[in-house]
Amino acid sequence: MERILEVKDLRVNFKVRGGIVQAVRGVNFHVNKGETVAIVGESGCGKSVTAQSLMRLIPSPPAVTTGSIRFKGEEILTKSLRQMETIRGKEMGMIFQDPMTSLNPTLSIGKQITEGLVKHQGMSSEAAKTRAVEMLKLVGIPNPESRVSQYPHEFSGGMRQRAMIAIALACNPSLLIADEPTTALDVTVQAQIMSVLKDLQTKLGTSIILITHDLGVVADSADRVIVMYAGKVVESGKTRDIFKNPKHPYTRGLLRSVPRLDQKKDEPLIPIFGTPPDLIKPPAGCAFCARCDEAMRVCVNNDPALVPVEGEGHTAACWLNHPLAGEGGESA
Ligand SMILES: Nc1ncnc2c1ncn2[C@@H]1O[C@H](COP(=O)(O)OP(=O)(O)OP(=O)(O)O)[C@@H](O)[C@H]1O
Ligand SMILES: [Mg+2]
Repeated sequence: MERILEVKDLRVNFKVRGGIVQAVRGVNFHVNKGETVAIVGESGCGKSVTAQSLMRLIPSPPAVTTGSIRFKGEEILTKSLRQMETIRGKEMGMIFQDPMTSLNPTLSIGKQITEGLVKHQGMSSEAAKTRAVEMLKLVGIPNPESRVSQYPHEFSGGMRQRAMIAIALACNPSLLIADEPTTALDVTVQAQIMSVLKDLQTKLGTSIILITHDLGVVADSADRVIVMYAGKVVESGKTRDIFKNPKHPYTRGLLRSVPRLDQKKDEPLIPIFGTPPDLIKPPAGCAFCARCDEAMRVCVNNDPALVPVEGEGHTAACWLNHPLAGEGGESA
């Protein structure tokens, strides 16, 4: 399988008044061509910072980003801003939770689609206009011929989200980063948007990084899942393995705490007690230790590495998976 993205030891530090926020603390993962990889985890665990750093959208300063991000074999972190602009316009697309903040209110939807095509792909404005109408049609906007000259404020929330997808996918990027693309929408529209994304992915062969709090969406649309906690990957694997055989207590906690369609009716939702640690002073041991009801003494001061567990490509960072765990180990 062709790897289009390979992230190694990614670290993002923000300098703030009280010290340094270690938002991303040594993240490793990859994305294959045409697959959907979901990133899940509680608020503040570093999903958006990770996603934005892939496109070099994190302002530095105040941030310092280190490690390696190889996209189609080339290092992203050493590209010039000019090279990045081309990559953003041509090779990577991003859609966000709130289309109003990323759509330009002063330009027609059509103009926002054609801009990149003319600038980065050298298309004639005529051809770009045709492509814009085609893209609006593809994302399910009715009357695309007349809608193309309308402005964002003339679109409903769901339509704006579709327009944003059209803009992001018009250049046929190899990688689409979708950061909570449906959170602000009602359930029916959410499902429609996800199915638009899925269709386009099949047609265009796009790889997708999907960030969402909705584990139902993850179960339906992701090939693989990356679970983040306190700036690190604590578990990753095929979607099926993550849901059926989670190997990190945090993943198990997440699965218990959010409603899912496949859940039995009488299964209660149990929130994970406590809050994530302060990323200015992250704990020395496992960052989840203080909230974990399976914590052992080793967890307090020793951060477990992400190691292979049962299941193809399945990894988890928890001492419980050590081959000798459970043999008279002491609880914390
Ligand atoms: N510009 C910044 N300056 C300082 N700290 C920041 C900045 N941006 C993000 N952070 C911190 O980095 C950490 C990770 O934030 P991030 O936005 O990636 O979380 P997230 O997982 O996307 O959460 P959510 O699910 O709420 O979107 C948080 O602790 C956040 O406060
Ligand atoms: Mg976020």
